Amino acid sequence: MYRKEWYVFDDQGRPVPAVIRNYEEKDFPGLIRIQQESFPPPFPSELWWNEEQLSNHVRLFPEGALCVEVNGELAGSMTGLKVDFDPNQPEHAWADITDEGYIRNHRPDGNTLYVVDISVRPAYRKWGLGKWLMLSMYELVVQQGLERLLGGGRMPGYHKYAEEMTAEQYLNAVVSGELKDPVITFLLRCGRTPVTVVRDYLEDEESRNYAALMEWRNPFLQRNFK
Ligand SMILES: CC(C)(COP(=O)(O)OP(=O)(O)OC[C@H]1O[C@@H](n2cnc3c(N)ncnc32)[C@H](O)[C@@H]1OP(=O)(O)O)[C@@H](O)C(=O)NCCC(=O)NCCS
Repeated sequence: MYRKEWYVFDDQGRPVPAVIRNYEEKDFPGLIRIQQESFPPPFPSELWWNEEQLSNHVRLFPEGALCVEVNGELAGSMTGLKVDFDPNQPEHAWADITDEGYIRNHRPDGNTLYVVDISVRPAYRKWGLGKWLMLSMYELVVQQGLERLLGGGRMPGYHKYAEEMTAEQYLNAVVSGELKDPVITFLLRCGRTPVTVVRDYLEDEESRNYAALMEWRNPFLQRNFK
């Protein structure tokens, strides 16, 4: 199992002790609170974690269930499952590939670590916690010898431009640096690269239900996966 103890820097530039570890049952109320704070309306509250989903994460793939604590307080979490991903058929909906967050489709022999969710409480944002969680998942990719980490990035800024550009054009504008998006720019800064844009990925008004599939390839397995 996984445990990392180190210091993060708060918004005053002060080092604060932090821990990334696998989450367990005692953490469930805190994890649900992170979801409530991270996905406020118009995001559908049915998509917040429930206890059954969290129990499945811990039971079916505990290595993919990570949380970060700052000064002993839960500040964020990230969850993954293993799937068999075929790069020639990249498109899928969040509900299908994550079994609506219940991960009963987790494949212990899968080739890809798929991100079900990442969220950091608003009070702890921009401290680097999201990136540290992502780096911990990259370590899991390497440790388990997987080909890649993959996930759909919401594009919550897209609704502001939906009249004037397609989702693909919006993504290109973010990748070229013309625009910034709260999730896509974060994922780029974490080392993720776009694979394709997917329509009807998740009910998400701000993103107009689009997402950018973005991957991080295991640098130790530099075969041509395509
Ligand atoms: C996306 C999210 C997890 C980022 O968490 P975070 O801990 O604030 O991110 P970090 O501090 O680790 O940021 C890492 C990098 O991304 C950048 N970044 C973070 N948020 C950003 C934003 N809103 N706009 C632009 N860049 C951003 C940071 O500047 C940082 O850059 P650096 O590494 O070059 O210094 C957090 O905003 C969140 O929980 N959002 C709501 C839930 C959500 O939409 N999750 C994604 C589901 S697909």
